[in-house]
Amino acid sequence: MTLADLIPTLRPTLAARLEPGLWPVTTAATCDGRVSVGGCDLAELAARHGTPLQVLDVADVRERCRAYRRALPDAEIVYAAKALLTPAVARLVGAEGMSIDACSGGEVAIAAAGVSGERILLHGNVKTDADLRAAAEARVGLIVIDSLDEIARVAAHARGVQDVLIRVTPGVDAHTLPGLTTGTLNQQFGLPFPEAAIAAKEIGTRRGLRLVGLHCHLGSQVTSTAPYVDAVHRVVRFAAEQDIDLQVLDTGGGHAVDVRGAAHDGPATLDPKDLARDLGRALRGACAHHGIAVPHLLVEPGRAIVARAGVTLYRVWAVKHVGDTTFVAVDGGMSDNPRPALYGARHPVRRIGKPVRAPLSPMTVVGRHCEATDRIAEGVPLPADLAVGDLLAVPCTGAYTRSMASTYNAVAPTPMLGVGGGAALPI
Ligand code: LLP
Repeated sequence: MTLADLIPTLRPTLAARLEPGLWPVTTAATCDGRVSVGGCDLAELAARHGTPLQVLDVADVRERCRAYRRALPDAEIVYAAKALLTPAVARLVGAEGMSIDACSGGEVAIAAAGVSGERILLHGNVKTDADLRAAAEARVGLIVIDSLDEIARVAAHARGVQDVLIRVTPGVDAHTLPGLTTGTLNQQFGLPFPEAAIAAKEIGTRRGLRLVGLHCHLGSQVTSTAPYVDAVHRVVRFAAEQDIDLQVLDTGGGHAVDVRGAAHDGPATLDPKDLARDLGRALRGACAHHGIAVPHLLVEPGRAIVARAGVTLYRVWAVKHVGDTTFVAVDGGMSDNPRPALYGARHPVRRIGKPVRAPLSPMTVVGRHCEATDRIAEGVPLPADLAVGDLLAVPCTGAYTRSMASTYNAVAPTPMLGVGGGAALPI
């Protein structure tokens, strides 16, 4: 039994208090259940634009970019576009001084709407000829070599001399979900050190390529700086041993964001200030130890820039009682947010647009798709009088939702609105 159950008059006040850290920075809530982001009332947006609907707080994205620039003023912050990319997002992060990490010709083309070619970095364990043509056309600043097989083709597509990094697999376990781990030796990305040494020699023989440094990416939702520190030591030692001119060291992204709220034992947010302090110390120490100059540092946050800016709105279309479980079915789901079905991610859910008068009761919020794994939340507290037509809001859904969306069951794409200063525009 909660305090609100004991003292009914407390319910509206408690209901207006949203999970700290999970909602966009401009979120405002009133006691009658109204929630606004960027000065726009979410219930009004849903009424006007329909549901499901995704809302992106422009000020929140700006604030996350600025936090990285403040923490790492000498580093290049390369936004990982796979988290969320549209031309408007590219312009938004580009205006905040971010570079952009793209993983396909398509992402390169969209990134080019917001940043100049030299601020685009091309990744990917597969780079087709079309991808490399798009990179050459955009004159991307860096291409990250991921296999021995692609070196000749990257060289063949280069216009002039193309700067490249080699993605190495440092053998560091970042202690995140198995599906989000990429720094260990049992996955498909990058080259283990012996193969990376061969790649460095091979690149040296290609006139169209210049090796300027190394890259590693340990995984996603990494909550501690320790794996990054470990990786820096290993990669700097490798560069020194192989006599690689390490002008650039890219430590990848993966900085965790708490997507569930402190009440759960989900991943804790990795603060860019802690990362800056520990990465800087490790890099200076390792370089001094091996007698090499400290390279230019690149970091590639994706989720940490856009996750908290995003809120998804769904309308309730059915409430079903099955045994002890109350299923609440909404008009979106795995087509707009595949994370629960793919990784078992669970989200907090709020009813918005109405005051909470009834006690809270645990409910399971499910999507509309023909998959038993299409579950947005399990056992989340929602008002017991929740009914068809009510509006639900799911915070912290700006990253890896729209960018991984599908058209399963031939549903229409979920629109995304950028909100700020009381205005909402399609993104
Ligand atoms: N750099 C590289 C080379 C990457 O592969 C990734 C993510 C990032 C940077 C950015 O990672 P972030 O800072 O966003 O964690 N779909 C999964 C996440 C997959 C991440 C793939 N690579 C999810 O929804 O959790």
